[in-house]
Amino acid sequence: MIDFKGKKGVVLGVGNSRSIAWAITESLHQCGAELALTFIEDPKGRYEKNVRSLGTQVEASIIHPCDVQDEKAIDSLMEVISQQWGKLDFLVHSLAFAKQEDLGGSFSETSRDGFLKAQEISAYSLLPLSAGAAPLMRKNGGGSIITMSYIGAMLAVPNYNAMGPAKAALESSVRYLARELGTDNIRVNAISAGPIRTLSASGVKNFSTLIQGVAEQSALKRNVTQAEVGATAAFLCSDAASAITGQTIYVDCGFNVMGGA
Ligand SMILES: NC(=O)c1ccc[n+]([C@@H]2O[C@H](COP(=O)([O-])OP(=O)(O)OC[C@H]3O[C@@H](n4cnc5c(N)ncnc54)[C@H](O)[C@@H]3O)[C@@H](O)[C@H]2O)c1
Repeated sequence: MIDFKGKKGVVLGVGNSRSIAWAITESLHQCGAELALTFIEDPKGRYEKNVRSLGTQVEASIIHPCDVQDEKAIDSLMEVISQQWGKLDFLVHSLAFAKQEDLGGSFSETSRDGFLKAQEISAYSLLPLSAGAAPLMRKNGGGSIITMSYIGAMLAVPNYNAMGPAKAALESSVRYLARELGTDNIRVNAISAGPIRTLSASGVKNFSTLIQGVAEQSALKRNVTQAEVGATAAFLCSDAASAITGQTIYVDCGFNVMGGA
């Protein structure tokens, strides 16, 4: 098992116990990492309640609001981490957003606002988060940044629509960030996971058909689990992945390599 004793990292994107971010959090906790979690504020405080409750299970030492649309919220998160830990070993970006109407129907009719919102939250946010994390990682001699992508970045997947270009921008951003931050021994990678039943995924029209089709067509003839993505994330955060940066690693039971009509 990977040993994260003394390592500290922040995971953004835990919404509930089915979130991929939660499986990543559990995996990092099992390896001994000390964790910070974030939540977005909604009128009923559901996200905060979920994250505070899940946070106790992994003894999260920092739980802080962070809506990535708000630059000040990102600054505030980094300030709290700086004051409490004075360093950061890894940052996990496992969040995305697209309007429901932009996850089905005619792609060409995606609204300007919907397209830009998907880009801002799902792709652009990795930049200010990396900029905020980098000084804390530099102090430490390096670090690891991970984000979550999907094959819809490369292929025109039915109904994925506005999220496709957002994930393409995200994967490209990973390469540019890897180039920039590599000189400080900060590695930046994406995991391209196969489809998983989560709250976000349920917003994609006909997701059940998609996930069933992927299971049938993947090399392993099944879907990936949250825990398998969590284990890959822990590997990428660890020193075992010390020469891996700028990559999009497919964790999809081999779906992406299969040919055929
Ligand atoms: N579920 C899948 O099939 C699948 C496959 C590949 C990649 N992914 C990616 O995995 C990541 C996690 O998604 P998930 O499937 O676990 O769904 P999820 O709904 O559990 O997580 C999405 C998270 O994004 C957060 N979020 C939304 N807007 C935000 C904002 N403005 N600021 C901060 N956080 C915000 C939500 O709070 C939520 O916790 C996403 O990037 C998603 O695109 C999912």
